[in-house]
Amino acid sequence: MRKPMVAGNWKMNGLSSSVRALIEGIQQEPHLSSSIDMVVFPAAVHLSLVRDLLAGTSLAWGAQNLYLGENGAFTGEISGSMLTDLGCRYVLVGHSERRALFGEDSALVAAKFQAALQARLQPILCVGETLKQRERGETEKVIQEQLAAVVKKAGISAFRQALIAYEPVWAIGTGLTATPEQAQAVHIAIRRYLAEQEVDIAQTIRILYGGSLKADNAPQLLAMPDIDGGLVGGASLEAKSFLAICQEAMAVKLGQRVA
Ligand code: PGA
Repeated sequence: MRKPMVAGNWKMNGLSSSVRALIEGIQQEPHLSSSIDMVVFPAAVHLSLVRDLLAGTSLAWGAQNLYLGENGAFTGEISGSMLTDLGCRYVLVGHSERRALFGEDSALVAAKFQAALQARLQPILCVGETLKQRERGETEKVIQEQLAAVVKKAGISAFRQALIAYEPVWAIGTGLTATPEQAQAVHIAIRRYLAEQEVDIAQTIRILYGGSLKADNAPQLLAMPDIDGGLVGGASLEAKSFLAICQEAMAVKLGQRVA
């Protein structure tokens, strides 16, 4: 049984006052985080505040990005060891906004994945196709290429320490979601690709779905056998909707466990 994870990607949102309020709101349901992994990804400037607020709880936090190496002349960048120092356990790597808006290519994403592991962070590798690629029938090919670049650089065993988030680019922030069947098909394709190299990794790695995941579509998506939780953007900015998704993740997965 893979433990479900619901992760909130707050992107470039929030000020200290709203971050404080959001964390307080999320902590209203402490029982959830004993059954599932709950993680928040605030903006880097809010990481130390979040660490102070969450210290001693079972909620984890992580960063949305990192740069290579431990330190050096890289103005504006943040290293993995700086993130570990702030108590981060996870880091997002290769989010489609980083790929599309900040020119991160597969080689840089792979290097960041490796840098995360070197800093003892668990990377959540984001993969996903654009609408054009889906329409051309290239979804699996694109995702395989995104995975292959990381496997080539870091080796397949590195995935023992990692998670994957399947986030169709056309579903991010658009209100469109992949149907449960579409998402499940891609999650299976990811496992099939990994199984060609290491069967146990394919079976144990957690693969999250992301892209307009909300409380109302979470039950169907999270019920899919190969979807192990969600990476939530917009709906993670309100405690109520984030907790509702966490609740679904817990209910669905606990239900499966009993069944
Ligand atoms: P969304 O974002 O839930 O707002 O679509 C998801 C993500 O970008 O991780």
